[in-house]
Amino acid sequence: MKVAVLISGRGSNLQALIDAGAAPGWPAEIVLVISNVAGAEGLERAGKAGIATAVIDHKTFDGREPFDKAMTAAIEKAGAEFVCLAGFMRLLSDPFIDHWRDRLINIHPSLLPAFKGLGVHQRVLDAGEKASGCTVHFVRSEMDTGPIIVQAEVPVRPDDDAKALAARVLEQEHKIYPRALRLIAEDRVTVEGERALIDGQ
Ligand code: GRF
Repeated sequence: MKVAVLISGRGSNLQALIDAGAAPGWPAEIVLVISNVAGAEGLERAGKAGIATAVIDHKTFDGREPFDKAMTAAIEKAGAEFVCLAGFMRLLSDPFIDHWRDRLINIHPSLLPAFKGLGVHQRVLDAGEKASGCTVHFVRSEMDTGPIIVQAEVPVRPDDDAKALAARVLEQEHKIYPRALRLIAEDRVTVEGERALIDGQ
């Protein structure tokens, strides 16, 4: 399965997907990395791995839809049939989300549907949660919603600050994002209503 990855920054989840791709018989090939931010660290990671990159700067477009259209054009030109958001910090327009329906996934650093949006880890601590985690899900038009493919849970420790909790969650993100992509590329994931089933379960 040919995949495009959309990033805005550090790209550690992109790196996890790149590294997973080194396994023999890995069923997903990243053919393009797009960043809306020039100089994003993830672009360097892609370059080092010999993956084609593009910077598509949202600020040079007149609104969300033309920007999203330019991304779709670049993704399709690269031959990608599937899109992974990996720390991509722009909201996407409905036409983009509809076009890529069930071919567009995101990773979010909480156990969705709890703690959507930004600044998750501090909010988890403020709420006194005993557990947090991360979620890979198909993208729907409402932010951080959509059929959940894989989740991982981590404990929240009494002495955690947001940084410590983020690091513990990130470690799991790097495991579940490749796992989810692999399941999809192996055709083991189906979407029924708002549920994603793995091997029909
Ligand atoms: C991750 O925590 C991801 O869950 C969230 O943005 C962060 C991106 O980190 N959507 P990185 O760029 O993959 O290192």
